[in-house]
Amino acid sequence: MLENMLFRLRWFKEKIDFKLKGFGDSWKVFTHLTVEERLLLYHLGKKRPQGAVFVEIGSYLGASSCFLAAAAHEREGVLHCVDTWNNEGMTEGQRDTWGEFCQNTLPFSDKIMTHRGKSIEIAKMFKSKIDLLFVDGDHNYEMCKADMEAWLPHLKKGGILIMHDYGWADGVRKVVDEIVKQKQTDNGQVMQNTYWTTL
Ligand SMILES: C[S@@+](CC[C@H](N)C(=O)[O-])C[C@H]1O[C@@H](n2cnc3c(N)ncnc32)[C@H](O)[C@@H]1O
Repeated sequence: MLENMLFRLRWFKEKIDFKLKGFGDSWKVFTHLTVEERLLLYHLGKKRPQGAVFVEIGSYLGASSCFLAAAAHEREGVLHCVDTWNNEGMTEGQRDTWGEFCQNTLPFSDKIMTHRGKSIEIAKMFKSKIDLLFVDGDHNYEMCKADMEAWLPHLKKGGILIMHDYGWADGVRKVVDEIVKQKQTDNGQVMQNTYWTTL
C-alpha cells in the first residue's frame, strides 16, 4: 500500500515536471507504453550526459519518441528514430505510419533524426556512439537478437539499454537472459513491461 503510494507520488512529480516544461501534448499520442513507462524514458534520458546521443528502434506513432526527445532537448542531445514506419511485426497489420509519426513529433523535429528502413540495415551505416538505446522494434526472438547484435556494438561503455515488452514477449525476455545479462554491469531493473540496465 505505502509502496504503491510512493511509486505513484514519484511518477506524479515527474509528470508535473514534464508538463511544466511544456511537453504536455505528448500524452495524446497513442501507444502501448504505460504512463510510468513513458516517464521512465524521460527520467533515464535526463540522466544522460550533456550532448547525449539517443537511439530508438521502433518509433511507431512517436509516443516514446516524444518522451526521449524531451530528455534530449534538456541534455542538448539528439534522438535518432529508426523504423520502417510500415508497422512491421505489429498485430494490427502493416500500414504506413510515417505521416502520423511526423505530425505527432512535430514539436521535437529539431531534436529528432529519422532513419527509415530495417533496423539492422540502418545499424550498418550508423556512425555515432550511443548513450541511450531504447529497443521496441520486432519482438520476435530472431529479430530482437539480430537487433542486439547489430546495435550493441554502437553503445558507449557505461551506456544505458532499455528494452520494452520484456514482461510479455518471450523473444525479448530470452534475448535479455541470453545476451544482455552477460554484458550488463549492474543487476538490471524492471518496471512494468520495461527492462533497463547499464552496459
Ligand atoms: C511496438 S511498435 C513501437 C512502439 C513505440 N515505441 C511507441 O511509443 O508506441 C514497433 C515498431 O517497430 C517497427 N519495426 C518492427 N520491426 C522493424 C525492423 N526490423 N526495422 C525497423 N522497424 C521495425 C514497426 O514498424 C513499429 O512501428
